[in-house]
Amino acid sequence: MNFHVLTLFPQMIIDGLNTSITGRAIEKGTLSVSAIDIRDFSTNKHLKVDDYPYGGGAGMVMQAAPVCAAYNYVAEKMKHKPRVIYMTPQGYPFKQSMAREFSKEDDLVILCGHYEGIDERALELIVTDYVSIGDYVLTGGELAAMVVIDAVSRLVPGVLNNEDSAEFESFHNNLLEYPQYTRPEMFEGMNVPEILLSGHHGKVDAWRLEKSIERTKQYRPDLYNLYFDNLKTKEI
Ligand code: ADE
Repeated sequence: MNFHVLTLFPQMIIDGLNTSITGRAIEKGTLSVSAIDIRDFSTNKHLKVDDYPYGGGAGMVMQAAPVCAAYNYVAEKMKHKPRVIYMTPQGYPFKQSMAREFSKEDDLVILCGHYEGIDERALELIVTDYVSIGDYVLTGGELAAMVVIDAVSRLVPGVLNNEDSAEFESFHNNLLEYPQYTRPEMFEGMNVPEILLSGHHGKVDAWRLEKSIERTKQYRPDLYNLYFDNLKTKEI
Protein backbone atom coordinates (compact mmCIF):
# COMPACT_ATOMS: atom_id res chain seq x y z
CA MET A 1 0.00 0.00 0.00
CA ASN A 2 1.25 3.48 -0.88
CA PHE A 3 0.60 6.57 1.21
CA HIS A 4 1.19 9.98 -0.35
CA VAL A 5 1.10 12.79 2.18
CA LEU A 6 0.71 16.39 0.99
CA THR A 7 2.19 18.57 3.72
CA LEU A 8 4.22 21.65 4.60
CA PHE A 9 6.28 19.53 7.03
CA PRO A 10 7.40 16.41 5.12
CA GLN A 11 10.20 15.61 7.55
CA MET A 12 7.70 15.23 10.37
CA ILE A 13 5.90 12.45 8.46
CA ILE A 14 9.09 10.64 7.44
CA ASP A 15 10.61 10.84 10.94
CA GLY A 16 7.37 9.76 12.57
CA LEU A 17 6.81 6.65 10.45
CA ASN A 18 10.31 5.36 9.78
CA THR A 19 10.57 3.53 13.10
CA SER A 20 8.87 0.55 14.72
CA ILE A 21 6.30 -1.52 12.84
CA THR A 22 5.59 0.99 10.07
CA GLY A 23 9.36 1.50 9.62
CA ARG A 24 9.90 -2.23 9.25
CA ALA A 25 7.05 -2.51 6.72
CA ILE A 26 8.49 0.39 4.70
CA GLU A 27 11.90 -1.30 4.69
CA LYS A 28 10.34 -4.60 3.53
CA GLY A 29 8.42 -2.78 0.79
CA THR A 30 4.98 -3.78 2.12
CA LEU A 31 4.26 -0.08 2.59
CA SER A 32 5.57 3.07 1.02
CA VAL A 33 5.17 6.55 2.47
CA SER A 34 6.08 9.58 0.41
CA ALA A 35 5.77 13.08 1.80
CA ILE A 36 5.24 15.77 -0.82
CA ASP A 37 6.19 19.29 0.21
CA ILE A 38 3.36 21.63 -0.83
CA ARG A 39 5.82 24.54 -0.69
CA ASP A 40 7.69 23.04 -3.67
CA PHE A 41 4.62 23.91 -5.74
CA SER A 42 4.48 27.57 -4.80
CA THR A 43 4.93 29.92 -7.75
CA ASN A 44 5.63 32.84 -5.45
CA LYS A 45 9.21 34.13 -5.38
CA HIS A 46 9.24 33.89 -1.56
CA LEU A 47 7.68 30.40 -1.74
CA LYS A 48 4.61 31.72 0.05
CA VAL A 49 1.71 29.25 0.27
CA ASP A 50 -0.76 31.16 2.45
CA ASP A 51 -2.63 34.46 2.47
CA TYR A 52 -5.14 36.49 4.51
CA PRO A 53 -8.70 35.15 4.70
CA TYR A 54 -11.32 36.92 2.58
CA GLY A 55 -13.89 38.47 4.92
CA GLY A 56 -11.28 39.07 7.59
CA GLY A 57 -10.47 37.18 10.77
CA ALA A 58 -7.39 35.85 12.50
CA GLY A 59 -4.67 33.73 10.91
CA MET A 60 -3.79 32.73 7.38
CA VAL A 61 -5.35 30.35 4.87
CA MET A 62 -3.40 27.96 2.64
CA GLN A 63 -3.87 28.90 -1.01
CA ALA A 64 -5.62 26.61 -3.47
CA ALA A 65 -2.99 26.66 -6.27
CA PRO A 66 0.01 25.01 -4.54
CA VAL A 67 -2.27 22.41 -2.89
CA CYS A 68 -3.87 21.46 -6.22
CA ALA A 69 -0.50 21.46 -8.01
CA ALA A 70 0.95 19.08 -5.36
CA TYR A 71 -2.11 16.86 -5.74
CA ASN A 72 -1.84 16.82 -9.57
CA TYR A 73 1.83 15.89 -9.33
CA VAL A 74 0.89 12.80 -7.29
CA ALA A 75 -2.34 11.88 -9.07
CA GLU A 76 -1.06 12.08 -12.63
CA LYS A 77 1.19 9.04 -11.97
CA MET A 78 -1.85 6.93 -11.05
CA LYS A 79 -4.26 5.02 -13.26
CA HIS A 80 -7.36 5.98 -11.24
CA LYS A 81 -8.33 9.10 -9.34
CA PRO A 82 -7.12 8.29 -5.82
CA ARG A 83 -9.00 8.66 -2.58
CA VAL A 84 -7.90 11.92 -0.94
CA ILE A 85 -8.30 12.24 2.81
CA TYR A 86 -8.24 15.74 4.30
CA MET A 87 -7.29 15.75 7.98
CA THR A 88 -9.51 18.29 9.73
CA PRO A 89 -11.40 18.68 13.01
CA GLN A 90 -14.43 19.38 10.74
CA GLY A 91 -14.43 15.82 9.38
CA TYR A 92 -16.12 12.47 10.13
CA PRO A 93 -14.69 10.90 13.30
CA PHE A 94 -11.97 8.35 12.49
CA LYS A 95 -13.01 4.82 13.48
CA GLN A 96 -11.58 1.30 13.18
CA SER A 97 -14.24 0.59 10.52
CA MET A 98 -12.91 3.51 8.45
CA ALA A 99 -9.33 2.21 8.87
CA ARG A 100 -10.53 -1.17 7.55
CA GLU A 101 -12.14 0.49 4.52
CA PHE A 102 -9.04 2.60 3.75
CA SER A 103 -6.79 -0.48 4.04
CA LYS A 104 -8.42 -1.89 0.86
CA GLU A 105 -6.98 0.93 -1.30
CA ASP A 106 -3.68 0.57 -3.16
CA ASP A 107 -2.98 4.31 -2.89
CA LEU A 108 -4.16 6.85 -0.34
CA VAL A 109 -3.45 10.55 -0.62
CA ILE A 110 -3.58 12.38 2.71
CA LEU A 111 -3.76 16.16 2.77
CA CYS A 112 -2.54 18.05 5.86
CA GLY A 113 -3.62 21.60 6.54
CA HIS A 114 -1.97 24.27 8.65
CA TYR A 115 -2.87 27.73 9.92
CA GLU A 116 -6.61 28.37 9.62
CA GLY A 117 -7.10 25.69 6.98
CA ILE A 118 -7.11 25.43 3.21
CA ASP A 119 -9.00 27.44 0.58
CA GLU A 120 -12.34 25.64 0.23
CA ARG A 121 -12.08 25.52 -3.57
CA ALA A 122 -9.01 23.26 -3.44
CA LEU A 123 -10.88 20.96 -1.06
CA GLU A 124 -13.93 20.87 -3.34
CA LEU A 125 -11.73 19.94 -6.28
CA ILE A 126 -9.65 17.16 -4.78
CA VAL A 127 -10.90 15.82 -1.42
CA THR A 128 -12.98 12.63 -1.23
CA ASP A 129 -13.00 12.09 2.58
CA TYR A 130 -12.95 14.60 5.46
CA VAL A 131 -11.56 12.92 8.58
CA SER A 132 -11.06 14.08 12.18
CA ILE A 133 -9.11 12.07 14.78
CA GLY A 134 -10.97 13.60 17.72
CA ASP A 135 -12.66 16.62 19.23
CA TYR A 136 -9.57 18.74 19.81
CA VAL A 137 -7.58 21.07 17.59
CA LEU A 138 -4.02 20.20 16.61
CA THR A 139 -1.56 22.72 15.17
CA GLY A 140 -1.65 20.87 11.84
CA GLY A 141 -2.85 17.72 10.15
CA GLU A 142 0.50 15.84 10.26
CA LEU A 143 0.04 14.07 13.59
CA ALA A 144 -3.51 13.18 12.58
CA ALA A 145 -2.25 11.80 9.24
CA MET A 146 0.29 9.64 11.09
CA VAL A 147 -2.48 8.30 13.32
CA VAL A 148 -4.50 7.30 10.25
CA ILE A 149 -1.48 5.81 8.45
CA ASP A 150 -0.52 3.80 11.54
CA ALA A 151 -4.02 2.42 12.09
CA VAL A 152 -4.51 1.58 8.39
CA SER A 153 -1.03 0.07 7.96
CA ARG A 154 -1.47 -2.55 10.65
CA LEU A 155 -4.47 -3.90 8.71
CA VAL A 156 -2.47 -4.30 5.50
CA PRO A 157 -1.52 -7.98 5.05
CA GLY A 158 2.13 -8.61 5.91
CA VAL A 159 2.60 -5.56 8.13
CA LEU A 160 1.99 -7.32 11.45
CA ASN A 161 3.94 -10.50 12.17
CA ASN A 162 0.94 -12.37 13.41
CA GLU A 163 -1.99 -11.49 11.19
CA ASP A 164 -4.43 -12.82 13.76
CA SER A 165 -3.54 -10.03 16.12
CA ALA A 166 -5.26 -7.46 13.92
CA GLU A 167 -8.51 -9.40 14.21
CA PHE A 168 -9.15 -10.02 17.93
CA GLU A 169 -8.70 -6.62 19.42
CA SER A 170 -10.44 -3.52 20.64
CA PHE A 171 -13.53 -2.48 18.69
CA HIS A 172 -14.14 -5.94 17.33
CA ASN A 173 -17.87 -6.21 18.25
CA ASN A 174 -17.68 -2.66 19.68
CA LEU A 175 -15.91 -3.94 22.81
CA LEU A 176 -12.68 -2.71 24.40
CA GLU A 177 -9.91 -5.24 24.86
CA TYR A 178 -9.62 -7.41 28.00
CA PRO A 179 -6.62 -7.14 30.38
CA GLN A 180 -3.42 -9.00 29.45
CA TYR A 181 -0.76 -10.60 31.68
CA THR A 182 2.66 -12.17 31.11
CA ARG A 183 5.36 -13.73 33.29
CA PRO A 184 6.01 -13.72 36.21
CA GLU A 185 2.88 -15.16 37.83
CA MET A 186 3.33 -12.94 40.88
CA PHE A 187 4.39 -9.27 40.70
CA GLU A 188 4.48 -6.93 43.72
CA GLY A 189 2.16 -9.31 45.56
CA MET A 190 -0.35 -9.38 42.68
CA ASN A 191 -1.25 -12.71 41.06
CA VAL A 192 -2.25 -13.39 37.48
CA PRO A 193 -5.98 -14.36 37.50
CA GLU A 194 -6.21 -18.14 38.15
CA ILE A 195 -8.37 -18.81 35.14
CA LEU A 196 -5.65 -17.71 32.68
CA LEU A 197 -3.36 -20.42 34.08
CA SER A 198 -6.04 -23.13 33.86
CA GLY A 199 -5.43 -24.05 30.20
CA HIS A 200 -9.21 -24.20 29.78
CA HIS A 201 -9.81 -22.23 26.55
CA GLY A 202 -13.57 -22.01 26.92
CA LYS A 203 -13.31 -20.55 30.42
CA VAL A 204 -10.52 -18.18 29.37
CA ASP A 205 -12.66 -16.86 26.49
CA ALA A 206 -15.68 -16.41 28.77
CA TRP A 207 -13.55 -14.53 31.35
CA ARG A 208 -12.07 -12.28 28.67
CA LEU A 209 -15.48 -11.46 27.25
CA GLU A 210 -16.77 -10.61 30.74
CA LYS A 211 -13.79 -8.29 31.36
CA SER A 212 -14.23 -6.67 27.94
CA ILE A 213 -17.88 -5.98 28.71
CA GLU A 214 -17.03 -4.60 32.19
CA ARG A 215 -14.41 -2.23 30.78
CA THR A 216 -16.57 -1.07 27.92
CA LYS A 217 -19.43 -0.33 30.32
CA GLN A 218 -17.13 1.75 32.55
CA TYR A 219 -15.10 3.68 29.97
CA ARG A 220 -17.28 3.73 26.87
CA PRO A 221 -20.99 3.53 27.67
CA ASP A 222 -21.68 4.59 24.05
CA LEU A 223 -19.95 1.45 22.71
CA TYR A 224 -21.50 -0.70 25.46
CA ASN A 225 -24.98 0.29 24.23
CA LEU A 226 -24.02 -0.47 20.63
CA TYR A 227 -22.74 -3.90 21.68
CA PHE A 228 -26.07 -4.80 23.29
CA ASP A 229 -28.11 -3.30 20.46
CA ASN A 230 -26.16 -5.50 18.01
CA LEU A 231 -26.66 -8.61 20.16
CA LYS A 232 -30.41 -7.97 20.20
CA THR A 233 -30.54 -7.55 16.41
CA LYS A 234 -28.67 -10.83 16.00
CA GLU A 235 -31.22 -12.59 18.27
CA ILE A 236 -34.10 -11.28 16.15
N1 ADE B 1 -6.07 18.98 12.24
C1 ADE B 1 -6.14 19.72 13.36
N2 ADE B 1 -6.85 19.10 14.31
C2 ADE B 1 -7.24 17.90 13.79
C3 ADE B 1 -8.01 16.80 14.27
N3 ADE B 1 -8.54 16.81 15.49
N4 ADE B 1 -8.21 15.76 13.46
C4 ADE B 1 -7.71 15.78 12.20
N5 ADE B 1 -6.98 16.76 11.70
C5 ADE B 1 -6.75 17.84 12.47
